[in-house]
Amino acid sequence: MNLFTDRRTLNVAESVRRVMGVKQLHESTNMELVIQMKKILADGYAFYFKAHTFHWNVEGANFPQYHDFLSKIYEQVFASLDPIAEEIRALGAYAPTSLSQLLQMSSISEANGVPSPVEMLSILSSDNEKIIQGLTAGYRMAESANEPGLSNFLQDHIDKHKKLAWMITSTIKGA
Ligand SMILES: [Fe+2]
Repeated sequence: MNLFTDRRTLNVAESVRRVMGVKQLHESTNMELVIQMKKILADGYAFYFKAHTFHWNVEGANFPQYHDFLSKIYEQVFASLDPIAEEIRALGAYAPTSLSQLLQMSSISEANGVPSPVEMLSILSSDNEKIIQGLTAGYRMAESANEPGLSNFLQDHIDKHKKLAWMITSTIKGA
């Protein structure tokens, strides 16, 4: 009887431990995902702002083309920021509330002065690769966390940034 009781107590304890373990694992996976989504938002903001400053400051013989192309880039990336922040809210976390926090989390450096048009595009090209890397890491985490809606969302964003990479590199080749 005692043996039975002990075994049953042990089984209950084991079940609780297992359930708690799964819960904790789930929470920590979601925590990693939330952090990654905040990094994605931070990268997007840094990229958007840099492209916008390039749009303001670009100079040269083909000014109208560069000026317009840079506006297409920053508008596209700016439009992606709101849905990314809302995905963070949907995961149950608050979106970042300060620019300094975003800057700290971003893997994209700030603009330094006013480069030539081709340098601007080559900076944006390498920054765009960092964005794709961040989105891909987020996509993998969303898959592991069993968040299919978010993984589809991130897949769409990866696709948009790959098209952006193609447009930027094609423009650099023609310069
Ligand atoms: Fe403008």
